[in-house]
Amino acid sequence: MTHTITLIPGDGIGPEVTEAVVRILKASGVSIEWEEHVAGLLAFERTGQALPVELVDSIRRNKVALKGPVTTPIGQGFTSVNVGLRKALDLFANLRPVWNLPGVDARFQGIDLVIVRENTEDLYAGLEHEVVPGVVESLKIITEKASSRIAHFAFAHARKHGRKKVTSIHKANIMKLSDGLFIDCVRRAAREYIEITYEERIVDAACMQLVMHPEQFDVLVLPNLYGDIVSDLCAGLVGGLGVVGAANLGIDIGVFEAVHGSAPDIAGKHIANPTALLLSAVMMLRHIDEGPAAERIMQALGTVLIAKTVRTRDLGGTASTLEFADAVCHEL
Ligand code: NAI
Repeated sequence: MTHTITLIPGDGIGPEVTEAVVRILKASGVSIEWEEHVAGLLAFERTGQALPVELVDSIRRNKVALKGPVTTPIGQGFTSVNVGLRKALDLFANLRPVWNLPGVDARFQGIDLVIVRENTEDLYAGLEHEVVPGVVESLKIITEKASSRIAHFAFAHARKHGRKKVTSIHKANIMKLSDGLFIDCVRRAAREYIEITYEERIVDAACMQLVMHPEQFDVLVLPNLYGDIVSDLCAGLVGGLGVVGAANLGIDIGVFEAVHGSAPDIAGKHIANPTALLLSAVMMLRHIDEGPAAERIMQALGTVLIAKTVRTRDLGGTASTLEFADAVCHEL
């Protein structure tokens, strides 16, 4: 069977890591027809839209997309394509499994946790305005609907994958209404999953605990902004942004993208590590019922990483992005 999948190479290191991952997917034997679309600055220059309608329509039609990172201008310019896409397609859950890859040195070993981040609201609603000169206001939107939905997603994921504990992370001691509503919804969901232990942590203390004793965590559920920050922190526990994959999931649509951004500091140098996007692509293969190919890729990736002869600079090697990809293809 041939799968039709939307491909968004993105910008910065996006096209470099995307090319590498497409090459590995081809070597895995899965038949994919890619529908390629531009987004961000490239699309803005060509069409006047950073998030072209054709791109969104393509994902709606195909239900699955593989996406490279897209640069978001800081403090001005168009609004984030990533946030726009999540809102347009109602990709309400951001799922980031964080675990140690074989052969990758990291601050901790034995990490195996899952971050479930609410993806559609909170301070990411982007509702900001200047009240008077020198005073701006940014609205933190938390709704019962989105909080309950992400809470059920986290518990259902825990149940399906045999996980033991869900921890909700919040700051409801200060934001009593907004974060208070969030944890209230998670508490209510917890009652429907009695076999799963439920606990709560305040975000600042949770960060400290994560960098000291990460092994105590299992599934974490967080509102959007804390989820963004904590998931990069967790990537740092297992070797950095180059080795963690992610999925943005809606009811029947999945957009699979790496945790990292467009890395302008190394863009064009062909030294980026494609592993993070590859891990996202492996999640995508499982999502489209191509589990055996996903396992083959994980085996091949593991063999290359354990051998330690071909690795990219972030992991202490000298290989280029495509040399690394070719090593994985060779194992496949
Ligand atoms: P970043 O993730 O692009 O880079 C942070 C650091 O990690 C840099 O030193 C970079 O060289 C390194 N790095 C990232 N990915 C790597 C890889 N695959 N291999 C080796 N090293 C890697 O974060 P930054 O600099 O904060 O963001 C750059 C741009 O990316 C911004 O415009 C931001 O908005 C955008 N961004 C886009 C995302 C997306 O499309 N989903 C997610 C995060 C950021």
